[in-house]
Amino acid sequence: MQSPSDRPRLPLFAPHAGGRSAMTCAFRCGNACSHPVPNTSENPYLGDLIAQAVSRRSLLRSGVVASLAVGATGAFAAPAAASETAAPASSAHRDRAPRGLDFEPVAPNRADQVTIPDGYDQQVVIRWGDPILKGAPEFDPEDQTPESQAAQFGYNNDYVALLEHPDSRRKKVLVANHEYTDEPLMFPAYDGAAPTRDQVEIAWAAHGLTVVTVDEDRRTGDLTPRVGDELNRRITATTPFVVTGPAAGSDLLKTSADPEGTTVLGTLNNCAGGTTPWGTILSGEENFNQYFANTASVTDPVAKARLARYGFSGAASGRRWEQYDERFDIAAEPNEPNRFGWIVELDPYDPDWAPRKRTALGRFKHEGAGPRLTRDGRVVVYMGDDERFDYLYKFVSDKKMKRGNSRRAREHNRTLLDEGTLYVAKFTGDSPAAEIDGTGALPADGKFDGSGEWIKLAKGGKSYVDGMTADEVYVFTRQAGDKVGATKMDRPEDVETSPKTGKLYVALTNNTARGTGSNAKADEANPRNANKHGQVLELVERHDDPTALTFGWSLLLVCGDPEDEGTYFGGFPKDQVSPISCPDNVAFDSYGNLWISTDGNALGANDGLFAVPLEGADRGQVKQFLTVPIGAETCGPVVQDKHVLVAAQHPGELDGASYENPLSEWPDGPGTLPRPAIVNVTRTGFGRIGC
Ligand code: FEO
Ligand code: CA
Ligand code: CA
Repeated sequence: MQSPSDRPRLPLFAPHAGGRSAMTCAFRCGNACSHPVPNTSENPYLGDLIAQAVSRRSLLRSGVVASLAVGATGAFAAPAAASETAAPASSAHRDRAPRGLDFEPVAPNRADQVTIPDGYDQQVVIRWGDPILKGAPEFDPEDQTPESQAAQFGYNNDYVALLEHPDSRRKKVLVANHEYTDEPLMFPAYDGAAPTRDQVEIAWAAHGLTVVTVDEDRRTGDLTPRVGDELNRRITATTPFVVTGPAAGSDLLKTSADPEGTTVLGTLNNCAGGTTPWGTILSGEENFNQYFANTASVTDPVAKARLARYGFSGAASGRRWEQYDERFDIAAEPNEPNRFGWIVELDPYDPDWAPRKRTALGRFKHEGAGPRLTRDGRVVVYMGDDERFDYLYKFVSDKKMKRGNSRRAREHNRTLLDEGTLYVAKFTGDSPAAEIDGTGALPADGKFDGSGEWIKLAKGGKSYVDGMTADEVYVFTRQAGDKVGATKMDRPEDVETSPKTGKLYVALTNNTARGTGSNAKADEANPRNANKHGQVLELVERHDDPTALTFGWSLLLVCGDPEDEGTYFGGFPKDQVSPISCPDNVAFDSYGNLWISTDGNALGANDGLFAVPLEGADRGQVKQFLTVPIGAETCGPVVQDKHVLVAAQHPGELDGASYENPLSEWPDGPGTLPRPAIVNVTRTGFGRIGC
């Protein structure tokens, strides 16, 4: 391995317009942004006009006037410049910090470390290759095997949950998923065109999910994995899943290995997730298209259109798994791709219960799943389809949750996601379309806001979409959304409901293709063309009822450089906020503050975790809590009263990086490989976060 001084200088700017390195684009989402937009439907979008004149903002309260455009390099090219903009809370709108957010904001930076506020401690809980199961070997990248990886923590942790342990308050159950693998960073002398069988099988074992019991230190809050604990578990790309719900057994899901269409080996590209009120974990299968080869061999026009709508393309797959398992070859197994793209459910407390793929929740590039209960005890799950110009969905169960932890209650609750109604969202703006000029300039009423409706797609195995059977709606849900005129959004990602107000928050990461070519132009919910920085949408269902079919909405944040006139921070003075770009995952603290992690900061700094109050005079005061190492994305997050956990995904995933030439040495320091890891941040002395 090279010494740090031999390594190339870290590139300051990623070449991809969205702020990501080309390597991230290739391995995370199969270069989704370099392919044509999969949604070519002509269903309407909100605004149909872009005003030619760029009207200057009249409603910014801050009085901060800056030039409209921020170039590709942004205002935060260098940490020094950025730190001047991340104003401390002490100079803010009022003297007192928002409740639960009393910390000094971290300045944007390009450091190869996790940077946290003064007065806090950090600890790496677990990282790629750490032993999980009994007998697992210590991590040795020079001698990795499929068997060792299957007993160790997987790669590229994304969703994280920290749950109560059934036996002890001092133990917790940590659940994480593993979205994808970065083979050039994992294996010496990796040849992408001809991977070895061992490399491919290690990658299979590095995908999936992990359950691991951890001990909590009562003085420091440190979390230490208990290797070999009876709840510890690895789910991989070859673990059997039971397919349930209305599309289980459909002809569209049958393969030669599974003629019943009810059992699938493995889960792929698990991105965000959610924890259900009955204690199970939901996880979204996201960019599953990239694992399949030989789309180009398909000639049937219906099959071709279906594949194209999900972003399948080309001959060989990115990882060449088809060389070792024919099910990844669409020419050999045309239905295998239909068996991915689902929400999966895992019971971390019951290792004997096979994980499920829940077809009632539809098939698309699931970012995650945000569950909540209705007043009468049914469950609603909100879901984003993370693709440019794709949709926001919700599922409402027929049955009610049973309270308690009896065996009967658990067995009942583990059926809730199989029967219900699937909806897709349509947004309408309340301002004249001509006032949405594509720059982010607020319309005359001072808000990007309006109303919306949930359009029914399917219920209990019955289709509500003309020209599509129920099976087709569940398996090709994107096309169902096209037919009913769902609103094309700027990459809908994580969705979370405020435990205080019942309002829903949707992270929309970015969409640099909006308004380009023949693509849909800016509308009131997606108000910027060539949107590099994303927005956060607040949604209030009618009568605060999660089963309602109509809602109101407004944009809480239009992200980016606060000095850019095309940004909006909930009306808070923009000279007193931290810059934020590319919101991805969202979580709530117990005070009702929204925490937002970012993916692909297009302002030139590392990704991070931010918090923002939502009510009262502090609404919109974004404060940055931490940054993750260079090349990494901030995932998770878990925000509890005394813990903040983030998954630092793909550290060092930068162009030119390889096993031989690592461009990050986090978390283990000089001379080591970067390792995706979960970080536990606590208040020094293990006090309450933000107090
Ligand atoms: Fe895996 Fe949508 O991020
Ligand atoms: Ca408006
Ligand atoms: Ca994500």
